[in-house]
Amino acid sequence: MRQLIHECAPLILEAVSDMGIGDEHILSLLGPATDTRMADVAMPCHSLSALLKKSPVNVSEEISSLISPSLEGIAFTSSVNGFVNLKAHPEWLSSKMMAILQDERLGVVKDDPRKIVVDYSAPNVAKEMHVGHLRSTVIGDSIVRMLEFKGHNVIRENHIGDWGTPFGMLIEHLIDIGEEDLALEKGISDFDHFYKEARSKFDSDEVFADRSRSRVVLLQGEDADTLRLWGILVGVSTTYFNEVYQMLDVLLEDNDLMGESAYRHLLPQVAERLHESGLLENSDGASVVYLGGKWVNRKGEPLPVIIRKGDGGFNYSTSDLACIIDRVERLSCDDLLYVVGTPQKQHFEMVFEVASRAGFMQSRHNATHVNFGSVLDSDGQMLKSRAGHTVKLVDLLREAVSRAKDLISLKNPDLKGEEKEIVSKMIGIGAVKYADLSTDRARDYTFDWEKMLSFEGNTAPYLQYSHARICRIFSLSIMDRDDVKDANVIIGTEEELNLARCIMNFSEVVDNASSTLHPHKLCTHIHSTSSAFASFYEACPILKTEDEALMKSRLALCDLTARSISIGLGLLGIQSPEKM
Ligand code: ARG
Repeated sequence: MRQLIHECAPLILEAVSDMGIGDEHILSLLGPATDTRMADVAMPCHSLSALLKKSPVNVSEEISSLISPSLEGIAFTSSVNGFVNLKAHPEWLSSKMMAILQDERLGVVKDDPRKIVVDYSAPNVAKEMHVGHLRSTVIGDSIVRMLEFKGHNVIRENHIGDWGTPFGMLIEHLIDIGEEDLALEKGISDFDHFYKEARSKFDSDEVFADRSRSRVVLLQGEDADTLRLWGILVGVSTTYFNEVYQMLDVLLEDNDLMGESAYRHLLPQVAERLHESGLLENSDGASVVYLGGKWVNRKGEPLPVIIRKGDGGFNYSTSDLACIIDRVERLSCDDLLYVVGTPQKQHFEMVFEVASRAGFMQSRHNATHVNFGSVLDSDGQMLKSRAGHTVKLVDLLREAVSRAKDLISLKNPDLKGEEKEIVSKMIGIGAVKYADLSTDRARDYTFDWEKMLSFEGNTAPYLQYSHARICRIFSLSIMDRDDVKDANVIIGTEEELNLARCIMNFSEVVDNASSTLHPHKLCTHIHSTSSAFASFYEACPILKTEDEALMKSRLALCDLTARSISIGLGLLGIQSPEKM
């Protein structure tokens, strides 16, 4: 109800001008009400009471009666326990609904554009993508969509793990099994198996370990054949990643690949620049940065950021520092977002601190670790497949679609053929994504097929169903969606009022979810809108009403609801089917 505050504030200031309270006092007190059933906007008068030497109740009563004539037709005022409460007037809401009806963006305005790099997904080559990568992909995709909708210039970067010492053993193992066998089940298409075999040979076979170490040197020296073999591993993996991205319906494409290998030529420069800035220290042959202060390990010993190991190899941190240099100096970005799990919190804090001290970023650059929690199974354990291996993501997504298909067969047996396939995909994938996005990302969430695919509650299928239901209403109506754009919106019942309030708040919620990088806030809002619609649909006849103007008004609210859902879900990367 930002808009309500915006419109009421000057009128309130004028009405209370004789009370002897500063404008800034009043303005800072106006805020959204906590109990939205009571009010939209509330103004606590407790701090004014000391100033005016009256009880809060007296102050709120006095203010309420002074402002109520000025706010006529905009908001109802009341005084409750020392709070002035404002509740949007139906006429005011109806005029807002009519303005939003004409607006494709449902009132969401664009910000001054910033250049924002979003680092997300980032699976590792020759390893199975795990559910953590699923979270990063889904949350990152939604953040990208929201920021783009807000008018920002967003650069997507998929920082895949495609460089470093493990590639020595992976390439040697590839040579052992033979390049031709790659595509076979036993090849690296079964990444878990491939990686584990390479690892166990490395640990048990001295000769293999030596070969692997020499291979790392060849790779770092950019030996042509070694790079070719490395390229095979990267190619097979990225093909697999793309399969997952396509199923997930996310924006990532090959152009967005910016793996660790892309920064390999910058790594020596990172060390040099840190050395020049006096930050680099020698610790047992390794080059490290000690940040001091709170950066200590469990024993209280200073914690180093390792830049170059004793054997000359660079580290994950070095690669992230190079990455900052690249994003700031080559891409000239303003903001850097890293959608990565909470376990890497300390890594990013330390990397950002080193980068700031070394002058790789200035104070005008905002680097943020957009962290997220784990995916748990019903026993509260990290989600694993039955055999205890990592869950293969494509299998998980296929299962989602097949479960959705079974549900549709039950709920809507008329849906057949290709249409059924398309809708099953929208529902299955939507359910998985929404389950991930609808809880505060910093928290863990439990992966629960029944719950995420339920047609009730805060789930994608429920929201998608509300959307499809509205599309059905229009298919049965004599008026179509364009016909109602100029409707005179009548807000006569409590249900219409509540629904209009939700629609009104859409733009504010999108702003809030995108500026705080919290997609779950948008989920909560779309769910409230759908619930308000369900009550409205139950209480207010739409096509059955005799009064054509009222029918048009109610259809206009239907249109606004459907658009809140489809634009909202769209910002989460979820589709809204017209039938289901
Ligand atoms: N590949 C890493 C992993 O799987 C994530 C990389 C995140 N991005 C970054 N710039 N460090 O854990």
